[in-house]
Amino acid sequence: MISKEIETYCELHSSPTSELLQKIARQSYLRTNQGHMISGPLQSSFIAQLVQLSGAKRVLEIGTFTAYTSIAIAEALPENGKVFTIEINPEHHHIAQEFISSYEKKASIELILGDAKEVVPTLNESWDLVLIDAAKKDNAFYYDALVAEMKPGGLFLLDNVLWKGKVVDKEQDKRTQLIDAFNKKLAADTRVDVTLLPIRDGITLIRKK
Ligand SMILES: C[S@@+](CC[C@H](N)C(=O)[O-])C[C@H]1O[C@@H](n2cnc3c(N)ncnc32)[C@H](O)[C@@H]1O
Repeated sequence: MISKEIETYCELHSSPTSELLQKIARQSYLRTNQGHMISGPLQSSFIAQLVQLSGAKRVLEIGTFTAYTSIAIAEALPENGKVFTIEINPEHHHIAQEFISSYEKKASIELILGDAKEVVPTLNESWDLVLIDAAKKDNAFYYDALVAEMKPGGLFLLDNVLWKGKVVDKEQDKRTQLIDAFNKKLAADTRVDVTLLPIRDGITLIRKK
């Protein structure tokens, strides 16, 4: 994991985020007590560049929060691209809806209120990129539900895989054990190429072979 100082340096030496993203970042802290859940400028710009580099047109985000990353992804999508994003919490969904409504390319975002564990199996889409960023205990469920059908070259991104660095602790709590076990399972999965990157709280990039 990189230090806060290094992260700030990286942010300052990356392209600036849009005014809308800067507004959502501020409002996420002001209007919720979980502002830290937004991916932030560095991670969202990494995700946006991946969308551009891969040419992804159909993106699934599991866990919308205030739509910070949904909008960062939409900004990077091609003309006919679309990001589907699922949020279970009505208050988060309400704030996300407000920001998406104010966004000029709002038609490129499909915001769904519901439990992603129920919604994901009902979405009849072929994904180019899937960002898994909801309750960490459900990561394996989403990955297992989607990986077999993912096309070759399709990407997954998994957030918070370092769990504040606790994955290297000798004495791990239950949640850390779960995250560590899933990281190990992913690294051993021969269907995919996996790179765990120490950006922010750790993000794993997975590419279907
Ligand atoms: C870390 S935040 C997402 C942050 C967002 N992706 C971003 O980068 O700005 C996780 C979100 O997932 C939502 N969530 C948790 N469990 C969920 C589920 N089963 N279905 C849909 N959303 C869920 C939470 O309410 C929360 O808003």
